[in-house]
Amino acid sequence: MKIGIFPDDDTIGQVAADFVEDLFTRQPQANLGLATGSSPLATYRHLIERVSTGRLSFAQGQAFTLDEYVGLDPQHPERYRNVIYRDFLSGVDFPAESVHSPDGNADDLAAAACAYDRLIADAGGVDLQILGIGSDGHIAFNEPGESFKSRTHPGVLTNQTRQDNARFFGSDINAVPTHCVTQGLGTIMEARRLVLVAQGRAKARAIRELVEGAVSIRWPATIMQMHPDAWVLIDEDAASELDMIDYYREVWEKSRHYRGVCSG
Ligand code: F6R
Repeated sequence: MKIGIFPDDDTIGQVAADFVEDLFTRQPQANLGLATGSSPLATYRHLIERVSTGRLSFAQGQAFTLDEYVGLDPQHPERYRNVIYRDFLSGVDFPAESVHSPDGNADDLAAAACAYDRLIADAGGVDLQILGIGSDGHIAFNEPGESFKSRTHPGVLTNQTRQDNARFFGSDINAVPTHCVTQGLGTIMEARRLVLVAQGRAKARAIRELVEGAVSIRWPATIMQMHPDAWVLIDEDAASELDMIDYYREVWEKSRHYRGVCSG
């Protein structure tokens, strides 16, 4: 993994957007994996700006979201499909039929999850997956104890995650769904490049485990240590519990010439 530590969220967003722009410039028909939530908002802002100025286009691409709550009304503003539309897709040019997400309202959630996994594979897989991380170390909604080889599946949300996400539901944890459908860790690990973004002290412990901890399903994101092309873009607060900050900064600076895609 390569660790980039930046002074502010906007710079994280700019660097993450550089990765996406580099991909779509080389490969306009690429498949982009999207995370919902607050972490990638600056990335999405930068991408929207680049599309609006004609520097970047997703018109030939496809998008796949990571996860969805179970049981929210299709019109619910916090349904992830609606959130990602509001935060990102409404400002860019993916054709509507090229945007895919897991179905959290299917009668048979397991069958719908399997179908979504197959859809991703049939499309040729995700080229670049944008990720956030939960304070309990989840990526997508793979909570501690999940299988590293899991495929897209229905799952149970921890109280920690529901508490963290209550801010989107009027600060009422009881309004946060208890279940989800999520891409599995095995599915996510098949994406050709992973770009995880995280900000703030609330993520510092999870980032420490991700970057310097043992690979363990207690901290699901640690599986990313096994990915050959994984990038972790964080601010100083999220980096605050890391032991080897100076080394990561040195590697980031000195690998500019072969990283080749980032302006940060
Ligand atoms: C959402 C997702 C989650 C979030 C994580 C962090 O699609 O996959 O793993 O990335 O819960 O959420 P935020 O960014 O809101 O702190």
